[in-house]
Amino acid sequence: MVAAGKPGKLGAPMTQLKILTLSAPLVLTVAAACGGGSDSGGAAGGGAAATAGDLPCEVAALVAARCQECHSNPPTNTAPVPLVTAADFRAKGVASPATPDGADKTLGELAVAKLSATTNPMPPAPRAPATDAEKAALQAWVAAGMPPRAAGETCGAGQGGGGQGGGAQGGAAQAGGAQGGSAQGGQAGAPSASCTPDIVLKAATPWTMPKATADEYVCFGVELPASAEDRHVTAILPRVDNTKIVHHLLVYRVEASEKISPTPAPCANVVKPGWKLYYAWGPGTPPAVLPAEAGYRMPGGQSSHYIVNIHYSNLTHLDGERDATEIDLCSGPPRQYDADVLAVGSTDFDLPAHAESTIECSTKAAIIPSTAPYHVFQTWPHMHLLGTHLSTEIRHADGTSTPVTDRPYDFYSQITYPLALTVDKTDTFITRCTWNNTTASKVSFGENTAQEMCFNFLSYYPAPPPGATWAWIAPSALATCKKQ
Ligand code: HEC
Repeated sequence: MVAAGKPGKLGAPMTQLKILTLSAPLVLTVAAACGGGSDSGGAAGGGAAATAGDLPCEVAALVAARCQECHSNPPTNTAPVPLVTAADFRAKGVASPATPDGADKTLGELAVAKLSATTNPMPPAPRAPATDAEKAALQAWVAAGMPPRAAGETCGAGQGGGGQGGGAQGGAAQAGGAQGGSAQGGQAGAPSASCTPDIVLKAATPWTMPKATADEYVCFGVELPASAEDRHVTAILPRVDNTKIVHHLLVYRVEASEKISPTPAPCANVVKPGWKLYYAWGPGTPPAVLPAEAGYRMPGGQSSHYIVNIHYSNLTHLDGERDATEIDLCSGPPRQYDADVLAVGSTDFDLPAHAESTIECSTKAAIIPSTAPYHVFQTWPHMHLLGTHLSTEIRHADGTSTPVTDRPYDFYSQITYPLALTVDKTDTFITRCTWNNTTASKVSFGENTAQEMCFNFLSYYPAPPPGATWAWIAPSALATCKKQ
C-alpha cells in the first residue's frame, strides 16, 4: 500500500495538506517536545499508603504501589473513584467511554479485568503492569467477596509502607527502558528543567467544566508577539492546575492562519495539518527539556502561534470545577540546531469491520532534507480509539535495528516519551500499527475521531533548512506499507 493521496478519502484540510506536502514549499522551522516515562507517582503512592484502610496486606501493597497515585481519596488525575478501603472495592463503578460496563459491576470485578486488559489497562501506560502474583492476590480476594482485613493482621513494612512508592517508580523506569535502551532510561530520570520560564501559554479565562459533561476536549490559542531576533524554545513546563479534571493535554505550534480563540472552547481532539506537536502531558509526564545543542525556532520579526488542547474528564459530575492550567516555556538565543517534528506511519489504510488489522510501513530516513545524522529526542505515538499497539524501529543498513517505541496504545493515555537515538541517512523507519476494529463498518485514515490514524511523531534535529520542500506528514504520506 503506498500512500499516494487519494483525495476522496480525506477531509478537506488533509487534502490541502497533501497538496502542500507534494508541491508547495512548507517551512517547518520549529517543532518537537520532550515528555517522559511517568515516575512521579512514587511519592503519591507512598503517601496514599498511610490511608490504606482495611485492605488485606497484599492488596494494600498493590494499590499503594500502582493505583493510589490516582485512586486516592479523594481521587486525582481524573480517576473517578477511590480504591482505598474494602468498601471502595465492593461499590459499583461509573460508566465511561473507557469503561462502558462501569456501573454494572463492582470496582473489585472491574479492577481484576483492568489489570489484564489489552485496551485501557490499569495502571495506564507507561506504567508497568501488575505482576502475575499481584493479579492472583487481587483476583482471589475479589472472588472471596472482598472482606476487610482480618482483625489483628498487621502489614509488614514492605506492604503499604513508604517502600511501595519506590515500586511504582521502578515500574515506570522499566516501561521506559523497554522502549529505547539505556540511553532512554537515563534521560527518563532527568530532573525537571532548571531554566526560568519567560513565556506563558495561558487561556484568556479559566475553563469551567459543566457539571453535566463527563468528557470534553477544549482548545485555546496563544499568539506571542514577534521578537526582533530569532529565539529558540529550550524547555516546556506544564503547570497543571486542577488535577481533578485535567486528564491530558497537547501543545502544538501552528501556522499564523490558524485562528483559534484565546478563550477556551470545546474542540475536537484531532491533529490538524500544520499543527506540530511540541509536547503531550499525562499524569506523571516530566517537563520537556531539549538537548543542549537544539531548540524550536521562533523566527524573529514574526509572531508565534500555539494551540493548547486539554482533555477534561468529569466522570463523577463534579459541580463548578475550574481550571487555569498553563504551559510555561523557556526561550533563549538560538542554539546550534533547529529542532523539528516529523511523523512516521501511514496516511492510507483500510480496516475491515469486526477484525484486527496490522500494517507495517517503511520510510527511508534519506527523505529528510537536512544533514544526517539525525538525533531523535522524543516520540509521541498517536492513533485514535481503535488503536491497540504502535511500534517503530530504525532498521540499519547492516540489517540490525534499534527500537524507538513498542508499547500498547491507549487513546486515553497519550503522552510524549524522551529518547536519545541517532539515525543515519542509510537507515529506514519501520512503523507497525495495530487496530481492533470493533465497529460494523470499514474504517480508514482521517482526522475525525471515528476515523483512524497511525502516526509516530518524532522530535529530531537538525531540521530541514528554511525553504526546503517538506512537511511533517511527508514520511507517512510517502511510506510504503504492507498488511501483516
Ligand atoms: C495515572 C492515573 C491512574 C492510575 C495509576 C490508575 N488508574 Fe484506574 N483509572 C484512572 C482513570 C483516569 C480512570 C477513568 C477512565 C477509565 O475508566 O479508564 C480509571 C478507571 C479505573 C477503573 C474503572 C472505574 C469506573 O468506575 O469505571 C478501575 C476499576 C480502575 N481504574 C482500577 C485501577 C487499578 C486497580 C489501578 C492500579 C492497579 C489503577 N486503576 C491505576 C486513572 C488511573
